[in-house]
Amino acid sequence: MKKVSIIYASRGGNVEVLANEIFEGAKEAGADVTIKMVSEATKEDVLSADAVAFGSPSKNNNNIDQEEMAPFLKEFKLTLNNNKPVVLFGSYGWDNGEFMEKFKDLITDYGFNVVGELAVNEAPDNEELAKAKEFGKLLGK
Ligand SMILES: Cc1cc2nc3c(=O)[nH]c(=O)nc-3n(C[C@H](O)[C@H](O)[C@H](O)COP(=O)(O)O)c2cc1C
Repeated sequence: MKKVSIIYASRGGNVEVLANEIFEGAKEAGADVTIKMVSEATKEDVLSADAVAFGSPSKNNNNIDQEEMAPFLKEFKLTLNNNKPVVLFGSYGWDNGEFMEKFKDLITDYGFNVVGELAVNEAPDNEELAKAKEFGKLLGK
């Protein structure tokens, strides 16, 4: 059974809704799935998973959350990440997905393999929710 870990930051709930859909998709694919706010997540959650989804809102001038998500991710700068498959997801207000480009560069630089990305404007619509679920299935199968 595949082990999938979903780790996200969300203040207003928009990113959380996407995280929950990814969770549902991965579950449907038959994976062993954990979902955690980044404040609750540990390094082990990432290291022990076969596939991971990281989520963040756009904050701090079109960047990923710098209070919790960026420091958490920095821990993986020196670990052996072996091109582990990762889906990146998040929500922005006005940056048209600029933070997602930075997110992707960072995670690729840390040695993960970004297999999907989803950036939505504020609250996701039904199509975006369906896409999040598909990404969950992709990670879980
Ligand atoms: C303090 C704060 C800073 C933000 N900074 C940005 C930003 O730099 N660029 C942007 O496009 N959106 C920015 N936003 C909008 C959020 O990214 C957007 O509302 C997102 O949906 C929030 O996700 P959440 O509901 O999961 O917290 C900011 C919102 C807040 C509250």
